[in-house]
Amino acid sequence: MSETAEVLAVEEAETSAQDEASAENTADASVPEASSAENTANETLGAIAIRGVGKSFRSGKKKAEFRALDGIDLEIGANEFVTILGPSGCGKSTLLRIVAGLEEADEGEVAVDGDEVVGPGADRGMVFQGYTLFPWLTVRQNIEYGPKLNGASILGRRAISNRYLRITRLEAFANHYPKQLSGGMKQRVAIARALANGPKVLLMDEPFGALDAQTKLEMQETLLDVWEKEKTTVLFITHDIDEAIFLSQRIVVMGAGPGRILREFPVTLPAERTAEVREHPEFLKLRRELAGLLKHKE
Ligand SMILES: Nc1ncnc2c1ncn2[C@@H]1O[C@H](COP(=O)(O)OP(=O)(O)O)[C@@H](O)[C@H]1O
Ligand SMILES: [Mg+2]
Repeated sequence: MSETAEVLAVEEAETSAQDEASAENTADASVPEASSAENTANETLGAIAIRGVGKSFRSGKKKAEFRALDGIDLEIGANEFVTILGPSGCGKSTLLRIVAGLEEADEGEVAVDGDEVVGPGADRGMVFQGYTLFPWLTVRQNIEYGPKLNGASILGRRAISNRYLRITRLEAFANHYPKQLSGGMKQRVAIARALANGPKVLLMDEPFGALDAQTKLEMQETLLDVWEKEKTTVLFITHDIDEAIFLSQRIVVMGAGPGRILREFPVTLPAERTAEVREHPEFLKLRRELAGLLKHKE
């Protein structure tokens, strides 16, 4: 399934289709923003429990079994920001897809706030590396797509899009189409669109992997801003050590053959992650440790 098709599948599973009059031309100024009280009611929600998860794939002519994940145990607290770091092919995406409900585990289970994951759901928003916006919709329409399917009124979804346009700093681009945007802008829209469905958990699979270095740093700062304001739990995947340290409260390192958790590292940097944090002795120490661990496993 292509990523766009997956996003469609996720959003359709999340919502029941309801047709409504188009909201495109509603004046913005008269519509209040969705209040933060409505959108930050998740402070104690979004805990993820991954218990004994295993997954094998059969591929090739002989249908040889390939063990992609083995005995994955991971608890993520409500509102925590956890990054899974690991080399290409160690099963990071497979694990995230299982948490998203896009893939089924062979063994074990995943629960969000105690509810077992059996498929995609509105409690989990996803952002992929590939750009998965609807090209025929404007930025605002992309953000309002989920709420519209979900039956939100014109004013209700306008309030939601106003809020997420502001948080992702896209206000000036509301009426642009995806093809008019840079890669970083597109990922801002992807984040805004995921948040517009009010998820408790944000699942992010190398979302900034295709961006240039400078844009990547800007996006990391935006994401931390969003996390602070929205109080969602974030499970983030990357193979970029600096990105993992800068963003996370905790880093979980995975290795391949079979895909498994090698070690966990708490990130004891100041909560306020400014650019200076990248020069912090703790940052440099952690970078050396992580680089050493990944080098031996690649
Ligand atoms: N649908 C699939 N069929 C067969 N093998 C797969 C499938 N999905 C992933 N794999 C294999 O499982 C391993 C882990 O993949 P993936 O989770 O994408 O790793 P990562 O995201 O860490 O790069 C890889 O070796 C990959 O080739
Ligand atoms: Mg991957």
